[in-house]
Formats: sequence, structure tokens, C-alpha cells
Amino acid sequence: MAATPTGPREFEPEWLQRSLDRYLAWGLVFMAVLIVAFPIYWLREPTLRADAKTEQDAAYMKSGADLFAKNCSTCHGPSGTGGTAPTLNSKQFLSTTSDNQIELLITGGVSGSSMTAWAQDYGGSLTAEQIRELVTYLRSLEPNAPSVPDWRTGAKAKG
Ligand code: HEC
Repeated sequence: MAATPTGPREFEPEWLQRSLDRYLAWGLVFMAVLIVAFPIYWLREPTLRADAKTEQDAAYMKSGADLFAKNCSTCHGPSGTGGTAPTLNSKQFLSTTSDNQIELLITGGVSGSSMTAWAQDYGGSLTAEQIRELVTYLRSLEPNAPSVPDWRTGAKAKG
């Protein structure tokens, strides 16, 4: 006579228990990785953003310098050193004029003068981004800008 199995079936066979243990172990490993990686990312993030900004400034400065040489130096002098128009490479101009003001002056021009509006929206030839490149370029001159008290009159007045 065949023996009938006695007692209930095994509730958690051994292979299932091992498999669960494996999943739990991997879960712990992933959690540990996240716990370690997050602060590292969080600490590095500001540096990454600052680096991106420095890189963008450098690119803007370079295209700004090209744009200035092509469009502005005939009046404002090479590198803004002055000509028939104000000397923009001057401590006095740069330290008293904000980026926003410079952007507006280039965008809309100075009515009643030969400084025309440069923005495409006002009939000029430059995009808003190109104007920001010019602002970045002009701002980059500030640390080495010479003192030119009569900057408004350009180089002409200096004789
Ligand atoms: C045809 C000549 C001419 C050209 C080209 C020219 N400008 Fe001007 N710009 C002037 C004159 C003149 C003024 C002074 C206007 C005034 O205040 O009467 C001026 C003023 C400015 C000012 C304001 C300075 C202040 O008085 O505060 C800025 C900034 C400026 N120009 C930037 C530029 C840039 C950037 C370009 C090239 C995209 C450019 N200009 C091209 C003639 C020119």
C-alpha cells in the first residue's frame, strides 16, 4: 500500500527562499549605490553648472568679439577703444552701465545719433542672442579697461 503524504505541503520551499534572499540582497546593493551616488551628484552639481556657464561665456565672448569687429569697430574703434563713437573699453563706461542697459542700448540704438537699433525686431541685423554675445564680450573687457574719463566723446576728443 502506497504511503500517502502526511502533513501540509512545504509552505516556502528552499529554492524560493534562496531566490527571495537574492532579490533582497540586490535591493540592498542598489539602495547603497543610490545612497552613495546621490550626495556625490548633489555636491558636484553646482560645479558642473559653473563649468557650463564658464564654457558658455567663453563661446559668447569669442563670437561677441567677431561681431564687434565686423559691426561696431568702424565707429567705436577696434576692441572698443574709441573712434567717432564712445570708447566702450573704458572703466567709466563699463563700471556705470549694467549688462541690461548695454543690451537695451544695442537693441534699440540711441535715437538722434548714428547708433542705430541693431535688433532684428527694430529693423537691425542682429539676433537677441548675438546682442547678448556682444554684451558678454564688452563685459569681458572690464577687468583690464583703462580709465577714459572722456569716453563719451570717443577717440576724436583726445586729439
Ligand atoms: C555708425 C556708427 C556706429 C556703429 C556702427 C555702432 N555704434 Fe554704437 N554708438 C554710436 C554713437 C555715435 C553712439 C553715441 C550715441 C549718443 O549717446 O549720442 C553710440 C553709443 C553706443 C553705446 C552706448 C554708450 C553710451 O553712451 O552709454 C553702446 C553700448 C554702443 N554704441 C554699442 C555698439 C555696438 C555693440 C555696436 C555694434 C553692434 C555699435 N555700437 C555700432 C555709433 C555707432
